[in-house]
Amino acid sequence: MYKFDEKRDNIIPITHKIQRKDRENIKNQKSCVIWLTGLSGSGKSTIANELEYRLNKMKHHTYLLDGDNIRSGLNSDLGFSEKDREENIRRISEVAKLFLEAGIITITAFISPFKKDREKARDIIGEDFIEVFVDTPIKECIKRDPKGLYKKALNGEIKEFTGINSPYEEPTNPDIHIDTTNNDIVSSVDLIIKYLNDKGYINV
Ligand code: ADX
Repeated sequence: MYKFDEKRDNIIPITHKIQRKDRENIKNQKSCVIWLTGLSGSGKSTIANELEYRLNKMKHHTYLLDGDNIRSGLNSDLGFSEKDREENIRRISEVAKLFLEAGIITITAFISPFKKDREKARDIIGEDFIEVFVDTPIKECIKRDPKGLYKKALNGEIKEFTGINSPYEEPTNPDIHIDTTNNDIVSSVDLIIKYLNDKGYINV
C-alpha cells in the first residue's frame, strides 16, 4: 500500500520563467560540466585552473569546483570512506547541475575514484557531462607528491588514501583521455578546448 512521505510528497518544484537556454544565449555559449577525474597529484587542479583561465580570456563564463576547496566548505563534514566519497560526489553533482542550469561552463576537479559514483554524476547532470580522465601513473604522482600526502600514506599515517590503500577505478571510456606523460599543461588544455569547440559548446 502507498505510504505518504512528508519529505517527498509535499515538495512541488516550480517551473522557472527563464530557462537554461535563455541564460546560455546571453553568454554566447552552451553550458556543460567538464568532469576531471584522476589520482591526487595527477594534475587535475592545474589543468582545471589553466582551462578556466583560457576560457575566461575567451570571454566565456565559467566556474571551477575543486576538491580541497569544496571539502573546506560545503563538504567539510565528509571524510574519505567509500560512503563519504559517494556523498561528496553526489553533492558536487547536484551543485554542478545548478551551475549547468545557470548557463555556466562548469569545471570540476575531484578524484572521484569510483565508477558507480561517476556514473551517478552523469545521470544527475545528463548529456552535457564530459568525463575527462587525467591519466598520470601512480609512480609519477608519488614522485611529485605536491602536498606530501603520498609520503604520509606510505608511512601508514593516512588510512584509505587513493592509490595506496583505497582504490582508483580508471574510466574505461572517458570522453577525453589526457595522457599527461605525453601532454604538458598547455596541450592538455588545448585538447579540452578543441573538444568544446567541436561539440559546439564554444566558438573558437
Ligand atoms: S574524492 O575521492 O572524494 O573525489 P576529493 O577530490 O574530494 O576526493 O579530495 C581529494 C583531496 O583530498 C586530495 O587531493 C588530497 O589533497 C586530500 N586528501 C586527504 N585525505 C585523502 C585520502 N585519504 N584520499 C585521497 N585524498 C585525500
